[in-house]
Amino acid sequence: MTMMLDKQAKEDLIDRGYSRRQLGRIAAILGAGAAAQSMLVAPALAQQQAGRGIKGAVRIGANECWTGPFPSGVAAMAEAAQFGNWYDPDNYRGDLIKTVAAVEGLPETHIMPWPGSGGPLVSIVAAYCSPTKGLVTADPTFESAWRTAAYMKAPIAKAPQAVGKGHDVKAMLAADPNAGLYYICSPNNPTGTVTPLADIKWLLDNKPADSMLLVDEAYLHFSDATSAATLIGARKDIIVMRTFSKLFGMAGVRLGLTFADPSVQERIMLFGPAAGGLAITAMHCGNAVYTEAALIKARRAEMIANREETIAWLTKKGIEVHPGSQANMFMVDWKRPAKEMQAALLATPEKVQIGRSWPIWPTVGRVTVGSASDMAAFRSAVAKVMNV
Ligand SMILES: Cc1ncc(COP(=O)(O)O)c(C=O)c1O
Repeated sequence: MTMMLDKQAKEDLIDRGYSRRQLGRIAAILGAGAAAQSMLVAPALAQQQAGRGIKGAVRIGANECWTGPFPSGVAAMAEAAQFGNWYDPDNYRGDLIKTVAAVEGLPETHIMPWPGSGGPLVSIVAAYCSPTKGLVTADPTFESAWRTAAYMKAPIAKAPQAVGKGHDVKAMLAADPNAGLYYICSPNNPTGTVTPLADIKWLLDNKPADSMLLVDEAYLHFSDATSAATLIGARKDIIVMRTFSKLFGMAGVRLGLTFADPSVQERIMLFGPAAGGLAITAMHCGNAVYTEAALIKARRAEMIANREETIAWLTKKGIEVHPGSQANMFMVDWKRPAKEMQAALLATPEKVQIGRSWPIWPTVGRVTVGSASDMAAFRSAVAKVMNV
């Protein structure tokens, strides 16, 4: 199914150099065209789909959480489920926005909920990139922005990221000083490394005023980094994006957020999916879990303990792990094509599904941090495959 672009969106695209012939193709990725969207948005989803049917696999391949929403979130979903006959009887949307505004110290007008963050990510690239206005990212990073920019026939500049470090923001600006969109992922997928807030601020202050900065904070709650939401103030050239798919354990529930000036939110929506609204279960759950500061801290601590235990074990076995991850993933240099290791670990009795590799580092694969028992199974499978 393809969305019709509205008149304003069509005119905007034509002003940015697209031909009328290209409009249908662009509409296809912005609408409810599920196949097109998942091609752009969700390598994780695609990987999950590829793993379907592997009963009992240890899922540490797609950066999901090893456990579900906090109990208050599950209870909220059950409560909302009873009112599933109504669109939004008690204004759960308003409650969610109020809660997020209070936690983040942002005006309610600056908060927009979405069914996940992958959709708005595609829309943001469509809103700010074009054949003459490129995308700049680090490399490696979450590829969805690359895929969308390539689909939009926008130039893509990638600034390689040093092992163990956050994005090189000066190299990002130098890579295309006149880009339409600068994309920072912090903590970064797949390296887990954080780009310091001072560097993000530097890019914000030094990029051209008419370009947009997107800070994707999908993994923020796993780190103790300060959110770039603190940089928004009265600015209209920064978007901060969140998802409930990671620490909050709601990947299958689908909820995400963008924080930005209302005029920016409107522009994202102009290139957003057809109106469909959000599930009241997702909004009510998100509202309940957002204030669970103690449980967030405890889940982060559990992840860190599991991550560090496995990194220490790998290191002791002489297997190289990239340093610096502050999120629920780490990069292992297998010293052979990482794809081979992915297949080999899946073929063990433990059936461990690890993550993929990125072209810039073909021998390095991403491993998601799972539960203590997931990580024990991973270590046992690695011991067999590597003979260590
Ligand atoms: C950095 C980053 N951004 C966005 C997403 C999209 O996630 P979702 O659509 O579940 O919010 C992901 C998923 O893996 C991600 O890693």
